[in-house]
Amino acid sequence: MARVIAVANQKGGVGKTTTAVNLSASFAAAEQPTLLIDIDPQANASNGLGIKTRDLEKTVYEVLVGTMSVHEAVVPTDMPHLDVLPSHINLVGAEIEIVDVKNRERLLAERINAIRSKYKFVIIDCPPSLGLLTLNALTAADSILVPVQCEYYALEGLGQLLNTISIVRKHLNPRLEIEGVLLTMYDNRLRLSNQVVQEVTRHLGEKVCKTIIGRNVRLAEAPSHGKPVILYDALSIGAKHYLDLAQEILDREKLRLSGANGTMIEAATTVQAATAAVSAVASAMQEPTVKG
Ligand SMILES: Nc1ncnc2c1ncn2[C@@H]1O[C@H](COP(=O)(O)OP(=O)(O)OP(=O)(O)O)[C@@H](O)[C@H]1O
Ligand SMILES: [Mg+2]
Repeated sequence: MARVIAVANQKGGVGKTTTAVNLSASFAAAEQPTLLIDIDPQANASNGLGIKTRDLEKTVYEVLVGTMSVHEAVVPTDMPHLDVLPSHINLVGAEIEIVDVKNRERLLAERINAIRSKYKFVIIDCPPSLGLLTLNALTAADSILVPVQCEYYALEGLGQLLNTISIVRKHLNPRLEIEGVLLTMYDNRLRLSNQVVQEVTRHLGEKVCKTIIGRNVRLAEAPSHGKPVILYDALSIGAKHYLDLAQEILDREKLRLSGANGTMIEAATTVQAATAAVSAVASAMQEPTVKG
């Protein structure tokens, strides 16, 4: 059964799509059958993998509104082991169309049940909001991976996101875990980047992914060539960081499958602890030790 990971943060431009695309490609490179679901109407993940979404008639939109099965809408990519369920700008309308549908937060979860046995990983790229599309992703997911950009307002809104996770766990999806907080666009020349890493790690501890994604121009260039970075420049530092992240998650997955229990208990307490930690980091970052 696939592990379903939603890449979410309602803050815009923090590296969700870059992470969803390149983590998926890295899993595929490790020969793990992977499906990337693009549930963002901007369709950046689909376009970043070279799919021309404008004229597509089989997308996540049709799947959500129920006129098509996931099987019909999934498309292969240039990479073996990597498929995509593409998005379309029409998806903007889906949020409104499904507002009155019964169990509207569970649509994606129900639809993807049919393909869970086909993949090892299903990665969902969420839009920058906490609306119905993100709620569908969190309800379908086993875990949430939260990219956080290494910048001054890094943790802005994270408290609200953790609150949403807690509500989803209570009412929609009790098994939702926090896969990790992923620090992105790290620049070791910047004191601020280093301070964000230090503070976030000090307070959020184990919930922070060991892999930190550096700022790398190849990661920014690859989507305009319609490729994940591993196909665009396999030797780049960006490609290495996402391969490291995939390995870190694979290692954790192995541990979990080997029967390390207690995960659910830990997940239950995590949200509260993380919310407190986020406030602590936020106030530490306000202190006047930060210069330049
Ligand atoms: N590690 C990185 N190094 C350099 N550029 C990056 C890196 N990660 C992301 N970017 C660039 O930053 C911008 C925002 O990244 P991305 O689109 O992944 O964010 P997002 O959270 O998905 O945005 P949105 O909220 O709009 O969906 C993009 O131009 C992307 O190419
Ligand atoms: Mg995005």
